[in-house]
Amino acid sequence: MTVIAISNQKGGVGKTTSVVNLAGFCALAGRRTLVVDNDPQGNASSVLGSGLTDASVYEGAPPTPTRLAGLSLIAASHDLHDRERTLAQGDRGRLALRRALEVHRSHFDLIFIDCPPNLSLLPMNALLACDRLILPVQCEYFAMEGMAQLLAFVEDLRASDHKGLTLQGILLTMHDQRHPLCRDVESQIRQHFGDKTFRSTIPRDVALAAAPSHGQTIFEYDPLSAGGIAYLSAAKELLDGLE
Ligand SMILES: Nc1ncnc2c1ncn2[C@@H]1O[C@H](COP(=O)(O)OP(=O)(O)O)[C@@H](O)[C@H]1O
Ligand SMILES: [Mg+2]
Repeated sequence: MTVIAISNQKGGVGKTTSVVNLAGFCALAGRRTLVVDNDPQGNASSVLGSGLTDASVYEGAPPTPTRLAGLSLIAASHDLHDRERTLAQGDRGRLALRRALEVHRSHFDLIFIDCPPNLSLLPMNALLACDRLILPVQCEYFAMEGMAQLLAFVEDLRASDHKGLTLQGILLTMHDQRHPLCRDVESQIRQHFGDKTFRSTIPRDVALAAAPSHGQTIFEYDPLSAGGIAYLSAAKELLDGLE
């Protein structure tokens, strides 16, 4: 059983898109998969379920099956924002998600945690609850800045509370091979992070942008789109890397 957090404090870099589509393909590949929506915006909950619910993972909400075989969801709740405040009051508030996931460990092969675009207590809980981190990075000029901050944060956690936390990989998203800046960012990241960068890159693709408006993963909406094939390839790489 592996818990994977998908996090980056920048918004709009493809975290949620990566969570729902990697999880969808992993379930298709026969892994018992759970998505935990740890973002008050509830975007993953809308794609995989019917949006925000009354209780979140922090209140012990159980996994519910999605329409995809082998894929379950614990949706975000309407008051997940407020939950963050109560977490801040408890001295073990950073470990709340880790404790909440304990009971689910034996029922799933993979648990994906979606994160909000910040470095607050919610993503902190995800980092302390996970075994692996996937960091989606949009191929653009300021991409590296946000990464450095998150990776420094991860190093701190590894040195103190959570020695087992591993960077599974950096996933280049909204990639456009024709764009020189994008190629530059890619080569810088590959040079710096070597094989910690997924070989698969996710192209900027209209099908990936449109799928959520139909409440669908790319595997349902258009599996043979460039984005669909890219996420399939990234999911295969992920599963191979976990073996
Ligand atoms: N590879 C892609 N190509 C085109 N649009 C994308 C791609 N990945 C994500 N998007 C779109 O970009 C927006 C932000 O993506 P999202 O996954 O919600 O980012 P985050 O969760 O990091 O905020 C969404 O509207 C999404 O549909
Ligand atoms: Mg998101």
